[in-house]
Amino acid sequence: MDPIREILANWTQKIPESEIRRLLKNKTKYYLAGGLPGNLPTKIFPKILRELADYYDSDSQNVINEFQYGQTAGTPALRKVLAERIHRRDGLDIISGADDWEKILITTGSQQAVYIALDILINPGDLVVTPSPAYLGFVTTVVKVGGHVVTAPTDADGLIPDYVEDTILKAEKEFGKKVKILYVVEDSDNPKGTTLPVKRREQLYNIAEQHDVIVIADSAYKEMQFEEKRPSMKTLDKDNERVIYTSSTSKEAAPLRLGYSVLPDFLHTEAEKAKGYIDLCTPTITQRIAEIYYEKYIDEQLPIIVQKYKEQKDAAYKALVETFPEGDFTNPTGGFFIWWQPKGEKAYTFDVRKFNQEVLHPNEVLVVPGSAFYPPSGHSYDPEVRGIEPLKVITGGMRIGYSFISKDMVDVGVRKLGDLLKENL
Ligand SMILES: Cc1ncc(COP(=O)(O)O)c(C=O)c1O
Repeated sequence: MDPIREILANWTQKIPESEIRRLLKNKTKYYLAGGLPGNLPTKIFPKILRELADYYDSDSQNVINEFQYGQTAGTPALRKVLAERIHRRDGLDIISGADDWEKILITTGSQQAVYIALDILINPGDLVVTPSPAYLGFVTTVVKVGGHVVTAPTDADGLIPDYVEDTILKAEKEFGKKVKILYVVEDSDNPKGTTLPVKRREQLYNIAEQHDVIVIADSAYKEMQFEEKRPSMKTLDKDNERVIYTSSTSKEAAPLRLGYSVLPDFLHTEAEKAKGYIDLCTPTITQRIAEIYYEKYIDEQLPIIVQKYKEQKDAAYKALVETFPEGDFTNPTGGFFIWWQPKGEKAYTFDVRKFNQEVLHPNEVLVVPGSAFYPPSGHSYDPEVRGIEPLKVITGGMRIGYSFISKDMVDVGVRKLGDLLKENL
């Protein structure tokens, strides 16, 4: 190693730059890669900014009071608005409305909540069970903080409870350690776009309880649902002791970089402590904008925005069905992504990373290769042998993001992708 690099912390040598962050640097006409929100309330944000400007102009004391450091856990005003929203939207017994605002933890993006949850729970070698494939900002962070990922198989409905239970049992036996965390994206998972049926949510919660595992229920896409919302696993956690529930404003209000979570009390205290050392507090000005947006505008804006995403999804799905070679794919009921993978061995031999660079990019198309959704190291549960094997990566899979470009562009882009796949698979 270059001697100058020896100064770096060990993790820097083990962990590459995020594939999605890297791909964001390449703009293409048919951009089906990063999950950028393409439908935002473009008229409302300037309106809120003007409202705020008038308020600050009217009295300089307002500026002094608000252009300040804030509480580490977030401004009370925003926490009250979001406690009320969670209560109405998610029906959690433990959040009965604005009065329970102190149970809400505001973070700088829900990525920070996920990071903090791992930071306060993981000791070197601790086991974490995740879907295969899974959100890369989670699986890579597990490795960064010293944890050990074991992936469990998924189908078109997400994690399969029987296999999750067997993964826990076999991983504990194989590595002589307890599984500490089960990671679940219940609604419109990233990357597969799957939504867990209610029955599976109940089964997974019971498994977690039985094996004393903490659940991280990541609800980043909760507001982006095309169908009726299903109750989170957090609703089953009546005593608030098992599920860390994280949600985000990013998909409907991307530039604010705000996440909000509900944690068991003992974890909330530790998470707030950890956050105090990471960023002291989340910017107060973005929290103020969010407070106004969620209080006054979101209910009227969201149906318009979600309908547009649904149309983009419908265009992507139709183009996929009509042009792609034989494969397995999902039909999301929300969120930003469809997953496609070839049948059989090609799921593990076709290299979408190479295909992206050598074929798609020159043709103005870009997707995220399936291999991006695996940790840099770890293991997989193999349902065929019902045991733990070296990490098995679906290199032939791809995440097709339909959120950023218009439905007409999605249609052309996905058809191009299908034709290029047929030529190259
Ligand atoms: C499943 C999932 N969780 C968490 C995040 C982080 O979201 P943010 O930090 O923008 O709130 C993302 C972002 O894409 C995601 O897809």
